[in-house]
Amino acid sequence: MKVAIIIDGRRVQIDRGAPIIDAARKAGIFIPTLCYHEALKAYGSCRLCMVEVIQNKQSRLVTSCNFPVEGGMEVFTDTPRVRKIRRVIVELLLARCPDVPLIQTLARQMGIDFSRFKKKEEKQCILCGLCVRFCEEVVGVGAIGLANRGTEREVATPFRVASDVCIGCGSCTYICPTGCIEMVPDEERPKLRRMNLGKLSLSPCPNNYQCEACSIEQEFFEDIKRVIADFRNRHKTPSF
Ligand code: SF4
Ligand code: SF4
Ligand code: FES
Repeated sequence: MKVAIIIDGRRVQIDRGAPIIDAARKAGIFIPTLCYHEALKAYGSCRLCMVEVIQNKQSRLVTSCNFPVEGGMEVFTDTPRVRKIRRVIVELLLARCPDVPLIQTLARQMGIDFSRFKKKEEKQCILCGLCVRFCEEVVGVGAIGLANRGTEREVATPFRVASDVCIGCGSCTYICPTGCIEMVPDEERPKLRRMNLGKLSLSPCPNNYQCEACSIEQEFFEDIKRVIADFRNRHKTPSF
């Protein structure tokens, strides 16, 4: 069932229950995201996509990538409260990964020159979980997961040993926005590659991280479908 909502003053008709971010995109309104990808289930972890919603005369902040649209809802994507939260998130990320081009770009777009937060150990992973979800939901393998809690949280293979289920398709390296996964030759299986979680620098995106309208993204999906199908054909378990 279609419902109508008002987003930044524009009326949008959309399926009831669709995430707010879809309505924003339909209205041509940009909301920054880090852990969201339209090919994957929403995860709602980075909080960068926060918007302000007014429902039943009450205002609250919600993550637009996983908050469902209801008829009569009013959404504001660029209020002082929203901007303040996004700035804090980007400053925290800038303290965690100062060398990551994507984070530098986001900071620049928000006019942030430095982070007020103290740098601890410099990391490259922003824990967006895109690699984990892509490996599980699209590739269908589940070779990596998010392990541990708090400051110890990390992407890892079970028991942190080289995965024996990874098919070396490279999807995780492609989808990772910070470039901290790399593919390396597999010594045991010379024709294959394996994924390595480590520190690897990516060059900034040639399309300024505008993934929605990116032809590179489309080509990637076509390639990856081919790679996965090819792998499965070559490694078919014989049926008896
Ligand atoms: S390279 Fe391995 S870990 Fe990465 S998406 Fe493919 S199967 Fe998963
Ligand atoms: S390795 Fe990359 S894709 Fe995976 S959680 Fe970390 S930043 Fe996200
Ligand atoms: S994009 Fe919505 S929480 Fe990360």
